[in-house]
Amino acid sequence: MSKIDFTGRVAIVTGAGAGLGRCHALEFAKRGAKVVINDLGGTRDGVGSSDAAADKVVEEIKALGGEAVPNYDNVAIVEGGKGIVQTAIDAFGKVDILVNNAGILRDGAFHKMEEENWDAVVGVHLRGAYCVTRPAFINMRENGYGRIVMTTSGAGMFGSFGQSNYASAKAGLVGLTNVLKLEGVKYNIKTNVIIPVAASRLTEDVLPPDLFAKFKPEFITPLVLYMCSEQCEDSGSMINAALGHYRRSAIMTGPGAILSDGKKIPTPEEIMENWDKIMSLEDPKYFDEIITMFYELGPLLS
Ligand code: NAI
Repeated sequence: MSKIDFTGRVAIVTGAGAGLGRCHALEFAKRGAKVVINDLGGTRDGVGSSDAAADKVVEEIKALGGEAVPNYDNVAIVEGGKGIVQTAIDAFGKVDILVNNAGILRDGAFHKMEEENWDAVVGVHLRGAYCVTRPAFINMRENGYGRIVMTTSGAGMFGSFGQSNYASAKAGLVGLTNVLKLEGVKYNIKTNVIIPVAASRLTEDVLPPDLFAKFKPEFITPLVLYMCSEQCEDSGSMINAALGHYRRSAIMTGPGAILSDGKKIPTPEEIMENWDKIMSLEDPKYFDEIITMFYELGPLLS
């Protein structure tokens, strides 16, 4: 088994001042990476800021003999994203690895979801991924190498009552990944997605107290490190991780029903009559990109 080593590599971890991000950052540093520890240091719902969170993790890494610099920018603004990437370039010359991890929560049922809480959460998770990934991606393209991890959530993949803002943002990261996996091909930039469950301040009132301690963030970090390694050839994959169980999620398409010769427009009644067939996921297919799905319609195009 080849060893995963990050000597000579530069990694940015956003929201690395606590929880999952801190855990990933420590392990990157232990395995030789130079790490940018970004954290705005606000509250769980994204209020305020403090340098303390990022500084503490930088000190921890230095105490272990590793290399790290802090960055206190807000991922949710374009200048913040540029600042984070510039910190990596100024301190270490480039960006090889980006883990989009920073996150906040502002839960509430959809009918009570005010614009401010919608925007704040979508801002950090989805817009934040845009703001940081774009300048990082530009640097990775220039260098012909990059590894990006998006942190999505079961809420975005499967639904979660009271998290319309968070789930929408997290699902948006899947769309972004689906495009970056294609746009990164020529430049050896791989973008993959994790769907974690782990104990942190975001889950302390979600996970039952007796289970909380068991869901160690340390279980998620090996997956992130593999996805960020030279050895990882995959791009666009989404992996659930919790408690040492890792399994793929994917958007799959069923065999469907052909209700036309490509010319005749079916009636709504024909859709209704064939609903079970349309809904079937028997023998599902995974499409790498939208164009491959068009080719499937070949006989109907002639
Ligand atoms: P956490 O609250 O311990 O860590 C998030 C960090 O992001 C905090 O240190 C916070 O200061 C920082 N942050 C927040 N807004 C920021 C901003 N605008 N700019 C820079 N830094 C900012 O929570 P946890 O659980 O470690 O979360 C990490 C990521 O994992 C989040 O994206 C979260 O949505 C995601 N996630 C976590 C799950 C879990 O079970 N813990 C489940 C699914 C997803």
